[in-house]
Amino acid sequence: MTKYKLIGPITQLISMDGLPLKGALKDEELQVIHNAGILTEGEHIHTIGNYDDVTEIASNLDVRIIKLQSDYVCLPGFIDVHTHICFSGSRANDYAMRNSGKSYLEIAKAGGGIWDTVTNTRIASQQELCHGVIKRANHLLKNGITTVEVKSGYGLSVEEELKMLRAIKEANLNLESDLIATCLAAHMLPKDYDGNHQEYLNEIASTLFPILKEEKLTNRIDAFVEQSAFSKEDIEPYFKKAIEMGFDITVHADQFTPGGSKIAVKINAVSADHLEASTDAEIKILAESDVISVALPGASIGLGCNFTPARRILDAGGALAIASDWNPGSAPMGDLLTQACILGTFQKLSNAEVLAGITTRAAAALKLEDRGKLTSRTLADFCLFSTDNYNEILYHQGKLTPSQVWKRGDAVYTEQ
Ligand code: NIG
Ligand code: FE
Repeated sequence: MTKYKLIGPITQLISMDGLPLKGALKDEELQVIHNAGILTEGEHIHTIGNYDDVTEIASNLDVRIIKLQSDYVCLPGFIDVHTHICFSGSRANDYAMRNSGKSYLEIAKAGGGIWDTVTNTRIASQQELCHGVIKRANHLLKNGITTVEVKSGYGLSVEEELKMLRAIKEANLNLESDLIATCLAAHMLPKDYDGNHQEYLNEIASTLFPILKEEKLTNRIDAFVEQSAFSKEDIEPYFKKAIEMGFDITVHADQFTPGGSKIAVKINAVSADHLEASTDAEIKILAESDVISVALPGASIGLGCNFTPARRILDAGGALAIASDWNPGSAPMGDLLTQACILGTFQKLSNAEVLAGITTRAAAALKLEDRGKLTSRTLADFCLFSTDNYNEILYHQGKLTPSQVWKRGDAVYTEQ
């Protein structure tokens, strides 16, 4: 069977190539190829360009031609850089209580909050967790998301965190999309832990980190830096140990109170996520750093909180990615495109800024150089939307979903 495929003609192909990593973007900066063709070679893009030119190149090759018969807009496969889709149970009662005016403390007392999900996740088997991840990742795939970051963090002991991360690894072997795992053992101090914050973190670093390396479960460490979770002082030595062992760092930062972004910059984390409570001071240090800011509109919508100040981050010169934060507590919706559109309308983001936030800038937040844009040698991960104008996609705020999703050179989803 031939390794080459020619797909087209495509009415508009938005490559997301050639854009700066940081700062505001104008829609005019987007590379739009009209009447485009994609030539794939195995898992990768061989050439993109004008359909006739690509057809000419393909004429010298043994190529399978996939001729499109109507209007399509092509975008790179989307990348969701922050999710918690490995969990068991529901927090529908938390949601109802919160919207009836119950406080965080009252909800926790009634058995809700992160600990409720920890309890349910501990009861679930590795296989049950794996099935849950597969189901949710396949839902995301239909919406064009071909790479998904997935955190642990509902196990909160060495064994239970391992169960989660092994479930994520197993799910990854059974999915078309790529999962990127992250260890969030520092999500909160487990209620049943016999010791203080520092003792818990020391145990995780000395016992769990080496196994993560040994079993190749993840090379990313995350922590929730917040008054109700871990302080800057607690977390700095933990992150330093992780860095010494070669892990990349990402931080749940400034969600309710500022603080986490400062530590993210200090230890040169890959990303600082949330940032709903960031002030000008945090925005400035983030913009001057190499840390990618990740907005999580799903958590703002789920909790009824402020949005991440995405406009100010971009105007200050920061790099902005947008992710769903899909989790059972603060962000149960899990619909990245809808949420990115809503963030765009409230924060006045250009379509280029929104699309970059879920493609090329998202790839940078996971240090993935082989995706997030469509150009020679990147992965052939892309979506085709049934429309003739790329502006229609964000305008429909998630209602317009892809007609086809391609992953590593294969059509893995086709709308019926
Ligand atoms: O990213 N902020 C902390 N962690 C998650 C929420 C987890 C949960 O409530 O289950 C978040 O919003
Ligand atoms: Fe989160």
